Order: sequence, then structure tokens, then C-alpha cells
Amino acid sequence: MSDFSKTILITGGAGFIGSHVVRLFVNKYPGYRIVNLDALTYAGNLENLVDVQSAPNYIFEKGDITDEARMQQLFDLYGFDGVIHLAAESHVDRSILDPLQFVRTNVLGTVNLLNVARKSWNGKFAGKRFYHVSTDEVYGSLGETGFFTEQTAYDPRSPYSASKASSDHFVMAYFHTYHLPVVMSNCSNNYGSHHFPEKLIPLMINNIKNKKPLPVYGKGENVRDWLWVNDHARAIDVIYHQGKDGEKYNVGGFNEWKNIDLVHLLCTIMDKKLNRQPGESASLITYVTDRPGHDLRYAIDATRLNRELGWTPSLQFEEGLEKTVDWYLANEEWINHVTSGDYKKYYEALYDQR
Ligand code: NAD
Ligand code: TYD
Repeated sequence: MSDFSKTILITGGAGFIGSHVVRLFVNKYPGYRIVNLDALTYAGNLENLVDVQSAPNYIFEKGDITDEARMQQLFDLYGFDGVIHLAAESHVDRSILDPLQFVRTNVLGTVNLLNVARKSWNGKFAGKRFYHVSTDEVYGSLGETGFFTEQTAYDPRSPYSASKASSDHFVMAYFHTYHLPVVMSNCSNNYGSHHFPEKLIPLMINNIKNKKPLPVYGKGENVRDWLWVNDHARAIDVIYHQGKDGEKYNVGGFNEWKNIDLVHLLCTIMDKKLNRQPGESASLITYVTDRPGHDLRYAIDATRLNRELGWTPSLQFEEGLEKTVDWYLANEEWINHVTSGDYKKYYEALYDQR
């Protein structure tokens, strides 16, 4: 028996969002034992968690969610009360280059975890919870108007979103078929510290800093709804504790930006921070060949989460973006570590052909 009131498995805790969720749970719930399971792929980085690595209620375990024996061993060892499942392949451009890797991790890995949880809990579901963290991209692409609600039919259009949609369906199937106590959320684009610089915002910050071209896909008119990663972690906390079994909750910032406007805003912020002439960074903007099947617009209606569980975003976008830029400028070592080695090869393979 442990001295902790609950033991929670967080998968993908060394990644961008996972590290913020681990930090929030370790600090906010000293009575919970938090086990972070991560395969440490290119996107997983234990440097993201240096501030909590010595906490008495935190444990790291390296492992792959597709490895049934390893997952069973961890369930047997720790007797998890709950799972918060974030481990995934998460980048659309990589999914276009290698769809099968997304099927392996996102579909097979999730079903493997569901199986191990079901077997380990063996019908004794009181106090247990399996939380699957998903994305708004499963809903497909919006036109100029409208929002994704929890009732919007799934219409995934990239290999990434198709793999996440598939995993979402399996999660719900385990609720209906086996009564596994699941809950799920679908969130819009996150931004903040510790974000791997293959995604739009950290890639642009890094390139602006290094005076490299800023590759805007197509005409830059695609729209994304941006949410501060700490607000997503807060939503996960609320839904994990108060969400209803078998239900899903949309999470979003009511904060839509055209890519090109967002890149201009970043350039303006960074011109000031780096003492550059106004317009100097924007002169780096370069329009490149569009992403195949590029979804035009995502916009989440997060009313349900606000109405039923009282969650609301805490930070205005401009303020969050400034904080994010400050973090990247102050953490040069972090960015140097994650952009050495394989990142260079990935960057050349993707952008040199555009
Ligand atoms: P990320 O790519 O930064 O991190 C993913 C983590 O999963 C990494 O630490 C990686 O090492 C780990 N991982 C990958 N394959 C694994 C495997 N087979 N076994 C164990 N660990 C493995 O991703 P993120 O942006 O932090 O996203 C986390 C989750 O949130 C994903 O499920 C993603 O679909 C979802 N999500 C992301 C966003 C976003 O804007 N980034 C928005 C909504 C939902
Ligand atoms: P991304 O951060 O990859 O998130 P997602 O595709 O999951 O929404 O991209 C956000 C938007 O920015 C998307 O419309 C694609 C665009 N984009 C660029 O224009 N240039 C880039 O170099 C990247 C990485 C993305």
C-alpha cells in the first residue's frame, strides 16, 4: 500500500502538453502519486520537467504504449487509479510523411492501453478513470463561419487527425461495450513554453530569432483557434475530476487567428524584444508550397465546459504570446538541445522541397 490517496498514470508527460499537465498535478496534488510514462521520442524531453523531477510524488518510467507487457508490468506495480493519456505522434506534417507511425502509436498504442486498463481493473471500476486527450482536428475543416461542438460529426482529413479520430472511437467503444469509465476532451491548438519547434509558433519564434526565412504555407489564410497550454492543463484537471463518464468536452480559446496575422504579430513582438527596426522580422516572411489537404479553419465552441464545469481561459492571447516569446528568449539552451541532430534533418527534408 502506498501513502498516496491516488496513483495516476500520465502518458506522454515528457512532451509539450504532457509536461504542463504533469507539473500541474505534481504541484497541486501532493497526495497523488504521478507516474509519467514516456517513450522519449524526438518530441519527449525530460528537460521539460527539471523543476518537478525530485518531487516525492513524481516518478518517471520510460516505455512505449504499444508494448503490452511493459504496460501490464506498470499497472501491476503501481495499481493505477487513473490514466491521463496524452502520448501520441502529434505533428500533421510528419503524419503526411509517415502515416503508419501514427497508426502504430495513436491507434494501436491507445487500444493497447485501453486493454491493459480494462484487464487490470477487471470490472472493479469504482474510483477509476481513463481520460483520453484528443484534438479538434478530428472534426475536419470549417468554412468561414460556424464552430465545432461536441455533436459535430467526425470528418478527419489528415493522417494525424484520422489516427486521433480512430483512437477516440475506440475509447468510446470501450465505454459502451465494456463500461470502462472513460472521459475525453478535444482541444484546439495550444501554445506556450516547451513547445517543440516543428509547430507554427515555436518554429517562427526560433526562425525570427535566427533571421531565417519564415515559411508560411499557401497564402497564410488558414485559421486556427489558439489556447495557452496552461489553460488546457487546467481544463484537463477539471475534466479529470468532474467530467462525466462516457462524455466528451470541447476545449478552446475563442481565439481565432489567420496564420499570416499571427506571424505578423509575432514579428512585431520580437522586433521590440530584440531591438530591431519595425518591419525587420516581417521581411523574413516567405510564402511556400501549401501543406497537402491543409484544413482551412478550426474553431471550437467550448461553451459546455464553461457551463457545466466552470472552466474559462485565464489569459489573453497577446499576453500569452509575449510570455511565450520571453520563455524562448530566456531558454536558449533548451532550444539548442532540441534543434540539434535529428531536427536539422527533419527541417531540411520538409522545407527544402517546398
Ligand atoms: P508532443 O508531440 O509534444 O508530445 C508527445 C509525447 O508522447 C512525447 O513526449 C513523446 O515522447 C511521447 N510518445 C510518443 N510516442 C509514444 C509511445 N509510443 N509511447 C509512449 N510515449 C510516446 O505532443 P503534444 O503537442 O504535447 O500533444 C499531446 C496530446 O495532446 C496528443 O495526444 C495530441 O494529439 C493532443 N493535442 C495536442 C494539441 C496541440 O496543439 N499540440 C491540441 C489538442 C490535442
Ligand atoms: P501546426 O502548428 O503544425 O498545427 P496544426 O496543423 O495541427 O494546426 O500549424 C498551424 C498552422 O500553421 C497550420 O495552418 C499550418 C501552418 N504552418 C505554416 O504556415 N508554416 C509552418 O512552417 C508550419 C509548421 C505550420
